[in-house]
Amino acid sequence: MKNLILIGFMGSGKTSVGIKLSYACRVPFLDMDKEIEKEQGRTVSAIFAQMGEEAFRQMETDYLRRFFREGGKHILSTGGGTPLREENRALLKKAGKVVYLRVQPETVYARLKKDTTRPLLAGEDPKGKISGLLAERRELYEACADCIVDVDGKTLEAIVEEIRSKTGEFM
Ligand code: S3P
Repeated sequence: MKNLILIGFMGSGKTSVGIKLSYACRVPFLDMDKEIEKEQGRTVSAIFAQMGEEAFRQMETDYLRRFFREGGKHILSTGGGTPLREENRALLKKAGKVVYLRVQPETVYARLKKDTTRPLLAGEDPKGKISGLLAERRELYEACADCIVDVDGKTLEAIVEEIRSKTGEFM
């Protein structure tokens, strides 16, 4: 077992949990969105606006192929849409233990209602977009996960402890 990979919807806490877990386990942390932004020299929003969603999805696949090839032991937080592609789901599963941070739509809305960095939630009816996307993706997240952690109402510390106890062999 090498990597521990966090998947889940926007606002599920993948980045915050990943950073905390990285300190707790002394394993280096990587955030896919940030890595893609560094490579491209622009934000995810700019990539969506200038190149379109499909181009971003291809960047995610290219990143995961490289991540898998290069090996090593990391905690990786993915983008909320990373498990949409079948190839990505296969790469994630091969690369390590996949932990799905499951979140309720109300929590996502409360956390992201003032956010301007998620192009898929921009514009009219963010609540409807959140519920719609979550409903479309739920099964894909579950299909990809080795274990599921419900995050609503839990502190970061409690989530990190739950992940550590559920993925014992990683630590
Ligand atoms: C996306 C989630 C975002 C980012 C992009 C698309 C999605 O990542 O990759 O805006 O399709 O759910 P976070 O889950 O880190 O917000």
